Amino acid sequence: MRIVIDGMFPAGGRFDPAFVPAGWNATKADANVYREVIAPFCRGCHSSFESTIPNTEDPLAFATAESVRTRATSVVDHICGSGPLGMPTAEITTAQFFSSSARAVLLQWLGQPGACAPAIDAAP
Ligand code: HEC
Repeated sequence: MRIVIDGMFPAGGRFDPAFVPAGWNATKADANVYREVIAPFCRGCHSSFESTIPNTEDPLAFATAESVRTRATSVVDHICGSGPLGMPTAEITTAQFFSSSARAVLLQWLGQPGACAPAIDAAP
């Protein structure tokens, strides 16, 4: 959370809504997934996951590309049909997620391309 806030509101600098944290900036593909998927559809909730261990990021805070890549199976399960517990678990966010290219971008990046339906019925 702190990394995101400090990055978007740099001391003495201008607001930077396109900020990409270092953990997502190793490759262009990682940074693209961060901008197109994580920031708009996951970060609002996931950046608030806090580790109980001092000076460690909770892996569910999605602070690094690696933290998402290593749980690829879980991500695919949660996005593609895990019922009302599916992600992104908010109705409007889910509707926008599935009507944008974000799902495809994320699944492609995880090496698991293919169609999948929203986990919850988010038809407007
Ligand atoms: C509205 C808030 C919210 C949004 C938006 C959201 N999540 Fe979550 N997510 C949660 C919460 C809360 C949990 C923990 C649920 C639990 O522990 O049962 C969770 C859990 C998960 C898990 C399971 C974690 C594990 O143990 O592997 C995955 C995967 C996940 N989210 C992926 C995503 C992805 C990818 C996005 C964006 C496309 C997203 N979520 C958007 C709130 C959200």
